[in-house]
Amino acid sequence: MAGRLDGRTAVITGSGSGIGQAIAERLASEGADCVIDYVDHVEEADQTLDKIKAAGGKAVLVQADVSVVADCNRLIEAAWTELGSCDILVNNAGIEKSANFTDVTEAEYDAVLGVNLKGAFFLSQAFVRKLIAAKKPGRIINISSVHEDMVFPHFSTYCASKGAMRMLMRDLAVELGPAGITVNNIAPGAINTPINKSLLADKPKLNALLTNIPLGRLGEPGEVAGVVAFLASDDGAYVTGSTYFIDGGLIRNYHEQ
Ligand code: BGC
Repeated sequence: MAGRLDGRTAVITGSGSGIGQAIAERLASEGADCVIDYVDHVEEADQTLDKIKAAGGKAVLVQADVSVVADCNRLIEAAWTELGSCDILVNNAGIEKSANFTDVTEAEYDAVLGVNLKGAFFLSQAFVRKLIAAKKPGRIINISSVHEDMVFPHFSTYCASKGAMRMLMRDLAVELGPAGITVNNIAPGAINTPINKSLLADKPKLNALLTNIPLGRLGEPGEVAGVVAFLASDDGAYVTGSTYFIDGGLIRNYHEQ
């Protein structure tokens, strides 16, 4: 059966684990050739590759740290040389660090902003330069967070990175529209992944969060991946400059008791 993404090539950052892994598997299952980018999750990245191959898909592994601009350039080059093109970029790699605002160190700030914002910025730049030179259209899909819009006390670095990612998306949607490149954000809420390890282990905290989620449960990585596939496909051709919240209603749930 023809897939919605047949003939497309996608780079998915941080696809050795969590949401990124689910996205790579989903895009490959819809026909895209995928570059699986990872930094530390070597075994999981290998598993992602094996699963894609077992399902009849095509993928390659590239170890690249998106907070380093030279790595961003190398990652996009790898897609073009090894898979022949790069039409879809999913800026998924992300980290978070909890700290009181008064205690945040320069190293923590640089680490979080480096991966979440600088990485998405310069990888998008490398991606777009190649597309414009090749006169090809493309899709940029950023995995931001409900915290591009919603406060998260004690996570000021994370909120700063995701809020900036929201404006970067809006700005690029306008600047790159004439080149046929769409830019959108997906803003997950609480998803069942390794980034939430400490939350999942803390029952009182988890239960308090669940009471704030109208759908009453955490989301699954595959539920985020489905919306990425939509945005990457022809079905999402006229969507640009938007954020899709995938959060079970969390962000809309403030109400008087
Ligand atoms: C964060 C999680 C948090 C969730 C909902 C996500 O962006 O990574 O740590 O639980 O938002 O607040």
